[in-house]
Amino acid sequence: MRVGFIGTGRIGGNLARLLVAGGDYVLLSAEHPDGPKRLADELGEHATALSVTDMLAATNVVVIAVWWEAFGDIAREYGPELQGKIIIDPSNPLTEVNGVPTPLPVPDGLTSPQYQWKRLGDVRLVRTFGDRLAPDLLADGQRGQSGGERSDMRYWSDDREAAATVVPLIRDAGFEPVDGGSLAQSKNAGE
Ligand SMILES: NC(=O)c1ccc[n+]([C@@H]2O[C@H](COP(=O)([O-])OP(=O)(O)OC[C@H]3O[C@@H](n4cnc5c(N)ncnc54)[C@H](OP(=O)(O)O)[C@@H]3O)[C@@H](O)[C@H]2O)c1
Repeated sequence: MRVGFIGTGRIGGNLARLLVAGGDYVLLSAEHPDGPKRLADELGEHATALSVTDMLAATNVVVIAVWWEAFGDIAREYGPELQGKIIIDPSNPLTEVNGVPTPLPVPDGLTSPQYQWKRLGDVRLVRTFGDRLAPDLLADGQRGQSGGERSDMRYWSDDREAAATVVPLIRDAGFEPVDGGSLAQSKNAGE
């Protein structure tokens, strides 16, 4: 499958590595071009670095791997281009205070992906890949991909078709998909 990325840092980078190893093609974008370019050079012919706008024009399945608060910026900058896309959301409601990840309250009594969905508008959101640290994501996925035990990877969505599109990607990344139910039932990392 052809999977777009906004954000090629710790989680986006390692998920892109796993998907390419699993046979998928990744289209990489971020705020600045250097990160996607470096990662595309590392990953070879199954990866391309693009602007966010060009990436969004080229695929309907997009991982948004940016800090929780930056979803608001993404919605403001790319809202119309995101409409109708299947969005994979690994974000946790955290911010960095003096270099330490610190929990943020999610407004309106919503779960984190319900709130991100509300910010993004008319997208088809699937929450997954956010339940472990980036180095553990890579190690667990690589173990599954090389024939070792597959870790469970839970996913949540209110859109069954979107979830069915994401399930094969969870398998490609080396995990055993586990349906967690609706976005209202979703858990953050550590829950
Ligand atoms: N790190 C973990 O272990 C971990 C584990 C589970 C879940 N998560 C979640 O994954 C998400 C990403 O975390 P991370 O640790 O991977 O972050 P990170 O390493 O700091 O990477 C953030 C990425 O987001 C991009 N970005 C930021 N603002 C942007 C914007 N306005 N437009 C486009 N791209 C933008 C950055 O691009 P530039 O570099 O060009 O600015 C960078 O590629 C977070 O929501 C976090 O809660 C992280």
